Amino acid sequence: MVDLTTNYGSLELRNPLVAGSSGLTDNVENMLEIEKYGAGAVVLKSLFEEEIIREMKAEMSRMGSPGFIYPETLEFYDYFDGPKESTARYIELIHKSKSKLSIPVIASINCVDSENWTYFPKKIAEAGADALELNIFILPADINKTASDNEKLYFNIIENVKNLVNIPVFVKLSYYASNLASFLTEISKTGIDGLVLFNRFYNPDIDIETLQITSGAILSSPADIYQTLRWVAIMSNRVECDIIASTGIHNAEGVIKQILAGASAVQLASTLYKNGVSYIETILKEFEAWMIKKKYTSMNDFKGTLSQEKSSNPAVYSRVQFMKYFRGFPVS
Ligand SMILES: Cc1cc2nc3c(=O)[nH]c(=O)nc-3n(C[C@H](O)[C@H](O)[C@H](O)COP(=O)(O)O)c2cc1C
Repeated sequence: MVDLTTNYGSLELRNPLVAGSSGLTDNVENMLEIEKYGAGAVVLKSLFEEEIIREMKAEMSRMGSPGFIYPETLEFYDYFDGPKESTARYIELIHKSKSKLSIPVIASINCVDSENWTYFPKKIAEAGADALELNIFILPADINKTASDNEKLYFNIIENVKNLVNIPVFVKLSYYASNLASFLTEISKTGIDGLVLFNRFYNPDIDIETLQITSGAILSSPADIYQTLRWVAIMSNRVECDIIASTGIHNAEGVIKQILAGASAVQLASTLYKNGVSYIETILKEFEAWMIKKKYTSMNDFKGTLSQEKSSNPAVYSRVQFMKYFRGFPVS
């Protein structure tokens, strides 16, 4: 009998397959399917910081509060006609999913700043979410800011949120940092339960016929796994929290690679769009079959055995140039 359980920070999951935050996790019906096909946990679609702030401001303007935060936008919010109830809907989604699902439900907030919204995670915790994932991304494209200006924000956000909630907090990041290894290590020391490496973002593209700016591919492909694989392997056992791999994990092979590199669990999104959520069951079966073939009885038997620290060839994870090995490429 194979034991698939894994620690996801302080949560224990029945297996390491987590449905990552996406449009597939924004309603209970889908999430019940995700649970039925065997996922270990779900991360809800992110609530956006802007939505929290917008509704808070609208509420304050309705109340005519003199303590309004950005007075210049008061008029706008008086006339704002968009959906005002995203936060209430989100809390309702947490309540509903907690009453129907038995796997852990992890809420998610997309954040770009540390001000004015960090009271909201308390409501998420009160609604019963098992954990909170902070999906933080600040595009480092402002030439008037230093790397440390940018990176300070991450610490402020985490500190504000950690001061307010007792549920486990996970931080989902991109790989844009001035010194990624030291940045990730420092973030891991803030008391968070886990680092999710990495988020995948919307990317613009250019159509050379219409000369229009278009949207790049929304879904990842299996070749997108390498960036995460390298960094999971490099950071494994160096950070003070669990590592959860995300991006480019499309099948059981991808899951196995990430766990060998040191991940405690993986998040899946694009593959569930491409193959349907029932594909979780296939991945799980193949994952289990591989463990049986290799005579592993639990994840601890192989987790991290090919991390940079443990592998017999650690230098390979630091190699970035192709050098002589591929001089003859392509090989016919
Ligand atoms: C359609 C779609 C919507 C997504 N929405 C969110 C979101 O709201 N919050 C978030 O943190 N990540 C979101 N993601 C990113 C995924 O959770 C995941 O990190 C990313 O897609 C990489 O994993 P993958 O290669 O398995 O798709 C979204 C991804 C897709 C494809």
